Amino acid sequence: MQIKTVEQYVDTYRKSVADPEGFWSEIAGHFIWKKPWEKVLQYDWDKPEFRWFEGGQLNITENCLDRHLDDKADRTAIIWEPNDPNEEARKITYRELHKEVSRFANVLKKQGISKGDRVCIYLPMIPELAIAVLACARIGAIHSVVFAGFSSKSLATRIDDATCKMLLTADGGYRGTKTIALKEIADKALEISETQSVEKVIVFKRTGQNVDMLEGRDIWWEEALEGASADCPVEVMEAEDPLFILYTSGSTGKPKGIIHTTGGYMVYTAYSFINVFQYNEGDIYWCTADIGWITGHSYIVYGPLLAGATTMMFEGVPTFPDAGRFWQIVEKYKVNQFYTAPTAIRALMKYPLELVQRSDLSSLRVIGTVGEPINEEAWVWYKKNIGNGEVPIIDTWWQTETGGILITTIPGVLHDEPTYAGLPLPGVQPMLFDEMGEEVEGFPSEGRLGIKFPWPSITRGIWGDQERYKRTYFSFENRYFTGDGALRNKRGYYRITGRVDDVIIVSGHNLGTAPIEDVIDDHPLVVETAIVGFPHDVKGNALYAFIILKQNVDEEDELALEINRLIAKKIGPIAKCDKIQFVPGLPKTRSGKIMRRILRKIAAGETSDFGDISTLLNPEVVEKIIQKNSAL
Ligand code: PRX
Repeated sequence: MQIKTVEQYVDTYRKSVADPEGFWSEIAGHFIWKKPWEKVLQYDWDKPEFRWFEGGQLNITENCLDRHLDDKADRTAIIWEPNDPNEEARKITYRELHKEVSRFANVLKKQGISKGDRVCIYLPMIPELAIAVLACARIGAIHSVVFAGFSSKSLATRIDDATCKMLLTADGGYRGTKTIALKEIADKALEISETQSVEKVIVFKRTGQNVDMLEGRDIWWEEALEGASADCPVEVMEAEDPLFILYTSGSTGKPKGIIHTTGGYMVYTAYSFINVFQYNEGDIYWCTADIGWITGHSYIVYGPLLAGATTMMFEGVPTFPDAGRFWQIVEKYKVNQFYTAPTAIRALMKYPLELVQRSDLSSLRVIGTVGEPINEEAWVWYKKNIGNGEVPIIDTWWQTETGGILITTIPGVLHDEPTYAGLPLPGVQPMLFDEMGEEVEGFPSEGRLGIKFPWPSITRGIWGDQERYKRTYFSFENRYFTGDGALRNKRGYYRITGRVDDVIIVSGHNLGTAPIEDVIDDHPLVVETAIVGFPHDVKGNALYAFIILKQNVDEEDELALEINRLIAKKIGPIAKCDKIQFVPGLPKTRSGKIMRRILRKIAAGETSDFGDISTLLNPEVVEKIIQKNSAL
């Protein structure tokens, strides 16, 4: 399965395009199936519908855990590094993980969960998070992990959308010097939940802080585990049974519950993990993401465990106790593959190099990034200082919806090139197209990025909204539309230039502008808001809100703080605006559409060259906004 040379890559890629079914069935054959599939792929772009390994039956945890018990039972599956370096780390072998997952799966069953039920997981980065995810998968419950930095309102929206029957949480969580009151946030979410679908809450004791336990609903994790058997036969799943739902922001409206199913997701995450990270037996692999995001699902939990790898989980933040923490952890465990986000690199490169140089990073063989474009300066710093000028960088492009990495440079096989993610993995057929939907051929070229053939882990839907699924990703014929723009250079390498819709990527997190605007518009003093992104040297992009008020206020700074508090409360701190400007009006077209193009330029600090603004209903407002902006 592992590609080692460029010739092999070219050859494998060619085969994967000429005979996709043959190609994927050979890879799928490496796994345990309870019943073999009858048809590798059936698809229909118009419906849209994608069915991989139809007729096949399996359980992904049998492949993540049971399969390794013969020869890897005593190998470390998970290394957990706590927030506080003075607390003891945990190492969990495959045998122990199998046991813990089975025990917790039995707890879920005992508490009334069965196949197809949705379980919401709102936990910090502790091993129990991975155990909970796998326990759900073992009994066929659909997990919906919500990042433990989200507010009670965001949590409630997600619980309601999927009508989750159970919530798994902790008393609190540690992040650097902060303690987050997770149970308190969860309680509030359950109070405001419209569906009131959650029947049971299981609470892990992490911080020991005081929490309220509601009799009949809330149970302590430890108590629930008492007497639970370590024997839990797997639930037999159809290849197309849903494995999980994971929410991601859209350009409008409520978050989208992206659905992934069992068979195709398993095959793709394992295949991509082994190739993209060139993982070899015994390697120590570390992805710094949170399991609350797709990166954590596919490349902390499923991909590595399917491959029998040793995967690390880090509870803390890169700057605690100091900004050399990542590098100390790399040295401590002799990490071979390190995978992080450009925003983390940009933040860390601002600190003195001594913080890097005091650690021995010579174990590193692959260093990667994901989540947003990595700018050349950060790429060069990463290569030189973390990669000793020679370790290959993998800039991996993919999305929550794609389930796994689609474009990158396989290390040791393809050359890395700053600002370019690289070439498609075998089985992935990217295309560029213009605004009319026409394919743009040749090199170099530019356009919107589409994928013109299904791959096994393509999302199968948006929970409860197949109409939106169709509209968002399949509005152009015979392809999946990514929402990104891209360039293709002479080598055929792709550079992702950014979103072409109203999603802004802040520190690697997808944020739709509309839901944040709605929160601001709910403030009694606000008439209308427009949010745009502007370049930020650490976050990549930051949010700039232009707000029209009902009346002038004396204390604008106070009001701006209040608005940000409101956003943090309703959505989460990650959605706070770096800049808030109160304006007399917003530039609008005659049809009433806000001209965001102009606001983006103003936010980026430009004072002229706004193109043709004569079609605006209110061109004078542009000058007023600029005047006030320069006075800021
Ligand atoms: O715009 C692209 C950007 O992140 C978006 C997907 O975000 P999300 O679903 O949260 O998944 C992030 C982790 C897979 C994409 O549409 N993006 C992701 N990776 C890259 C990237 N942009 C440029 N280069 C990347 N390597």
